[in-house]
Amino acid sequence: MKRTLLTLLCTLLCASSFADEGMWLPGLIRERIGDMRSKGFRLTAEDVYSVNRASMKDAVVSVGGFCTGEIVSDRGLLLTNHHCGYPAIQRLSSVDHDYLTHGFWALSDTEELPAEGLFVRILVRMEEVTDRLAAGETAAEIAAAAEREGTGYRAAVEPMYYGNQHFLFVYEQFDDVRLVGAPPSSIGKFGGDTDNWMWPRHTGDFSVFRIYASPDNRPAAYSPENVPYRPRRHFAVSARGAEEGAFTMIYGFPGNTQQYILSDAVEYVQHRSDPMKIDLRTQRLDLIAAAQEADPAVRIKYAAKHALIANPWKKWQGEVIGLERLGTADRKRDYERRFAAWAADKPEYAHLLDSMRAAYAAAAEPFFIAELINETGRTIELALLAEQNLLRRRAAAAGTPWSEAKPELEKQYLKLYDDYDAALDRRLAKCVLHGLAHYYPGGMPRKMQDEIDRAGGTIDAYVDALYDRSPSVSRETAEAADTAALAADPVLRLRKLFSFGPEGIGRGMMLRRNLSDVPSIERWYRPYLRALRAFDPGRAFFPDANSTLRVAYGSVRGYDYADGEYHKPLTTLDGLIAKDNPAIYDYDIPQSLRDLHASGDYGRWSALIDGRRTVPVCFLADNQTTGGNSGSPVLNARGELIGINFDRTWRSTMSDIEFDPELCRNIAVDIRYVLTVIDRIGGAGRLIDEMTIR
Ligand code: ARG
Ligand code: GLU
Repeated sequence: MKRTLLTLLCTLLCASSFADEGMWLPGLIRERIGDMRSKGFRLTAEDVYSVNRASMKDAVVSVGGFCTGEIVSDRGLLLTNHHCGYPAIQRLSSVDHDYLTHGFWALSDTEELPAEGLFVRILVRMEEVTDRLAAGETAAEIAAAAEREGTGYRAAVEPMYYGNQHFLFVYEQFDDVRLVGAPPSSIGKFGGDTDNWMWPRHTGDFSVFRIYASPDNRPAAYSPENVPYRPRRHFAVSARGAEEGAFTMIYGFPGNTQQYILSDAVEYVQHRSDPMKIDLRTQRLDLIAAAQEADPAVRIKYAAKHALIANPWKKWQGEVIGLERLGTADRKRDYERRFAAWAADKPEYAHLLDSMRAAYAAAAEPFFIAELINETGRTIELALLAEQNLLRRRAAAAGTPWSEAKPELEKQYLKLYDDYDAALDRRLAKCVLHGLAHYYPGGMPRKMQDEIDRAGGTIDAYVDALYDRSPSVSRETAEAADTAALAADPVLRLRKLFSFGPEGIGRGMMLRRNLSDVPSIERWYRPYLRALRAFDPGRAFFPDANSTLRVAYGSVRGYDYADGEYHKPLTTLDGLIAKDNPAIYDYDIPQSLRDLHASGDYGRWSALIDGRRTVPVCFLADNQTTGGNSGSPVLNARGELIGINFDRTWRSTMSDIEFDPELCRNIAVDIRYVLTVIDRIGGAGRLIDEMTIR
């Protein structure tokens, strides 16, 4: 009752800003600190972000530019997700040392393994440079000047609000990062794709690294002389956990949101783009799953590919349901109607919406085709292999074989074949070409149909001819073929047709992350956002996520999943054990975890939950997060670490377009489970000894 009343009041008073929505720039956190403190935060704006003294931002890192991590000791110890460390762990693994399967624990500094290619970035400072740009300096000049300020500095000028403001971000980049610990995948990926984007959840999605620096504590390339980095600040860990309703804050690098797009763009996502991508991926996933079912070798070969296809696939399904449920397009259209009425007598804005609508109308079809190309022909692996074989052969002929000149490329190439099944790929190729004919406006594009006609007229005959003739179906046949045969491979022609260039079947439109990023549309958002701020001054504007550092805050919170079904915000080891099933790959936990549960001797990190002693495993909160927030620290009111963010619930993924505080939840692994696994499964108590535990 109280909640409904509050929601009602908020709808009346808070205009379009909801309680826990927002991804705020840490350098401007002063503007939010009053609200944060009213919700329970105990620290100051200076504690969150300060240039002059150590602050929380000094303990948050971008992991490789695609995830987030947090420093938890004065010796550069770093926590992130297992799925973020995954590529590095995989690269360090071999048949004899399969760290993905069995986990890895360095029992001393000397056992820590350099994760080549993995870097982390720590924000030195951010500042607005809108005026400097207006005065004639270029973004490149501003960034270059900032990079000269210190060793290993990297800088970038990033647009906010579609370029109405620009901010300079200066980072210190560390390239010597070493793997310290990882749980076995049966803990780190527990639940696999079955539980991905789901609640209740029991995934121990964490891994441990350490940042190394030169002896004078500066960024340096890998060297045995390097020493553990001494950070300005590290997070203390709270072993007390957080009750439902307690304040939480997330500090990390969210990748991409589209809060301000027009109803036209929402409709495109909801009715055209997502449904097409979901349908095509459902078909591909069904084929892959059937092949995996039939052959254990294919199961392993296609595990990572399945995960990569399934992850966005499930997210999009939730997004469509969420947008429908919220009526986002209708609400936006209504908002736009009111905006248009307001703009009618303002010459600079009066025709803005019409121009935007016209730009959408012109770009939607070619962009849809670009997305279709990306989901069909570009997924055919044989075409990629044929291209790689030819490039590799030509490099060898030129005297620079990949095996010597480009070992990374050679390794990737070998992996492509290790994980390849030509029979399955052939079925997938047929599937996506049928999909192309189904979704391409007007049916199969002419250029593609010509190829098919030459092969006898049916898609299946065309694909069979390709796979029967191509030397690239296996590494052995590719090695045996001469260069002329590799160059004459008919599948290379297919690759060309599915390029975005003029030879392709597209309409000359490059693929971009979103339709609204197409330049002919995007340019209008700058005046539109300026106008919105004048039209709707009560709205709490925050810039869309763009992989820059942000703060989100809210509370630990469950949600109403369905009528009569409330989802509590916490899961436990007991629930994990209840799911344990050695016959199901995704739910087969290590014996050591079963033994730990049977012993009931959990050690320091257990808690009394609903009257029984257990280990908390995952929890929910209502912070606004998105891709890139994986690995982000989840902090309590005192800025202590209580969890590591790693997912959202799938029905809440429309939050990238519209956030709903009633339903949108992020998922974190509870730090007490992380500590338990490090301590009792990994036997790496030395890592806990160097943390600051409260
Ligand atoms: N859904 C999470 C994210 O978007 C986790 C993905 C990795 N896990 C998986 N089972 N595929 O990154
Ligand atoms: N797993 C996602 C990531 O890698 C986070 C999930 C999401 O919120 O999109 O960043």
